[in-house]
Order: sequence, then C-alpha cells, then structure tokens
Amino acid sequence: MTIETLDDLFLHTLKDVLYAERKILKALPKMERKATDTKLKAALSSHRDETEDHILRLEDVFEGLGKPARGAKCDAMVGLLEEAEGLMADISDPEVMDAAIISLAQAVEHYEIARYGTLVAWAKQLGQTKAAGLLKETLDQEYGADKALSKLAEKRLNAAAAA
Ligand SMILES: [Fe+2]
Repeated sequence: MTIETLDDLFLHTLKDVLYAERKILKALPKMERKATDTKLKAALSSHRDETEDHILRLEDVFEGLGKPARGAKCDAMVGLLEEAEGLMADISDPEVMDAAIISLAQAVEHYEIARYGTLVAWAKQLGQTKAAGLLKETLDQEYGADKALSKLAEKRLNAAAAA
C-alpha cells in the first residue's frame, strides 16, 4: 500500500500491530510450556488472554474506520519471535530458560508499547477519539504485563543473591 498521509501511516501501523498480536498469540503457549516458575507461567497465560482482547480491540478500531481487519507482515515481530525460538532451543537449564523467557517476553512487550504509544498519539491527532481510547486500554495492559515481568526478573535476582 502507498503511504502518503498520516491516515495511511496510521492504518499501516494498525495492520502491522494486528499481525504482530496474532503472531504473539501463537507464540505465547510455547513460552508458557517451556517456563518452569509457576508465577512466570501464570503471567504468560494471563497475557495470552489479554492478547486475545488486544486483537478484538484492534478489530473494533478497524471497524470504526470502516476498514477490513487485515494484518500486514511485521518483520520486526517475525524477527523477535524467531530469535526467541532459536534461543529457547539452545537452553536446557530450567533456571536459565526462565531468565531467557522473561527477557524475550519483555522485548516483545517493549515493541508493542512503542507501537501502541505511537498509535494512541496518531489517533488523537487524527481526531479518532474512540480508537485512541481503545488503543490506550491495550497500551496500559502492555505496560502492566511488562511491569509484571520486571517484578519476576527482580524476584529471580533476589532469590539467586540469597542462595
Ligand atoms: Fe498485545
């Protein structure tokens, strides 16, 4: 698609993030299976549920714009998830695996935070108030997921220091 206006760029980025979310939804169960720490497993599982909501919200945004909810390949997310697969395949120690999964999941979250932060700003600029509200709800959940992962990482560090 040719991108000439901010509206075009907004639509393109929505498609990018829709594609990314659908990929993440497929990748999260594998991370959950590979994780050992029960709290980490729970965090990944609850973020999987949230990701389903993120997709529904994006579909709402597309509907509001009168556009089909079609994704556009997000090379960044493909790369992040390929890297995650490769790294997890190289690790056998469960402790190291949990540390790796937290770092990989946070990389994904940070990508999403960057994208949704931008989308909220553009939606406001374009006068798409309803879309801005929906995208902000997801942005807040992405921040929450990232924070939960940071807490788990800190807990791991403290436990390792105490051992
Ligand atoms: Fe998400």
